Amino acid sequence: MKKLALANKWILVTGASSGLGKEMARQLAHNFKANLIIAARRADKLNELKTELESAAGVKVKVIVADLSKTEDTDRLVADSIADGDLYGAILNAGVTFFGRHSQLPWADFENILNTNVKGVVRMTNALVSYFDKPGTEGALMLVSSMAGYFPVPYQAAYSGSKAFITAFGSALHYEVKNPTFSITVFAPGGIATEMTEGKSFNDLKGWLMPVKQAAKEAIHAFVARKFNYMPGLMNRIGAVFMNFLPKSFLTGNMARVYAKALLNAEKE
Ligand SMILES: NC(=O)c1ccc[n+]([C@@H]2O[C@H](COP(=O)([O-])OP(=O)(O)OC[C@H]3O[C@@H](n4cnc5c(N)ncnc54)[C@H](OP(=O)(O)O)[C@@H]3O)[C@@H](O)[C@H]2O)c1
Repeated sequence: MKKLALANKWILVTGASSGLGKEMARQLAHNFKANLIIAARRADKLNELKTELESAAGVKVKVIVADLSKTEDTDRLVADSIADGDLYGAILNAGVTFFGRHSQLPWADFENILNTNVKGVVRMTNALVSYFDKPGTEGALMLVSSMAGYFPVPYQAAYSGSKAFITAFGSALHYEVKNPTFSITVFAPGGIATEMTEGKSFNDLKGWLMPVKQAAKEAIHAFVARKFNYMPGLMNRIGAVFMNFLPKSFLTGNMARVYAKALLNAEKE
């Protein structure tokens, strides 16, 4: 399949007010000259990014403030993004986690994880697939999942479950697409240094985190090359192959020890 050609095309990036989404927006603008629709809840951060990218990269940027845990906002975001009929790509990246004992996750926060990471993503995917998956429409959709969707992470149980859903959902849909010029990619990073991993609970794990610039670069590579599934970082990819040969109980048990220790050390501080 032909690679994406992003110059002067409109790309939607959700969760662009910080972290991976913000960095992907920057690289799409500077390195690919793509016009952007950037979405998240924090209007001030999005407007700052719009000003920065329009002046420094010379691209057009539209800001859409939306709470993507809410169906009315996901619907409005997609409707506004496709209204002119020139949307070329979408990266559904917005996501939230909870790091701690699952028994301490309030139900409302669980619902927020589910609504943001799963329900909102499926709702937007449905609308975007019906926009893109028709003859003569060129484009791509990328869902940002996580390695936690392949290898369950204790103390991020709800988050891991939400990302396992996204990995399975996006990978299955990849092969339901009929239009040969439309692709669906699942991007699954390991830990990245962003706002999500800033808290002291992550202190012990900071050495594992990938710089956000590298994660964003590899994300855009996966998107442009229309990959099926993609994990950034050679060591992550090699590690994932080996981990598939190990018993899941061994892997998950070890992961539990590392994460429990990180939590304990954070509590002692
Ligand atoms: N950091 C990691 O270690 C890591 C590893 C694997 C996968 N990922 C995935 O990468 C993606 C980006 O995460 P990140 O690391 O860049 O975290 P981040 O810096 O916390 O960014 C998360 C983004 O999602 C947006 N968001 C959260 N809830 C939202 C809502 N209800 N409505 C609209 N936007 C919302 C946030 O914007 P507002 O707060 O302004 O709404 C923010 O822009 C997520 O899907 C995450 O699961 C991260």
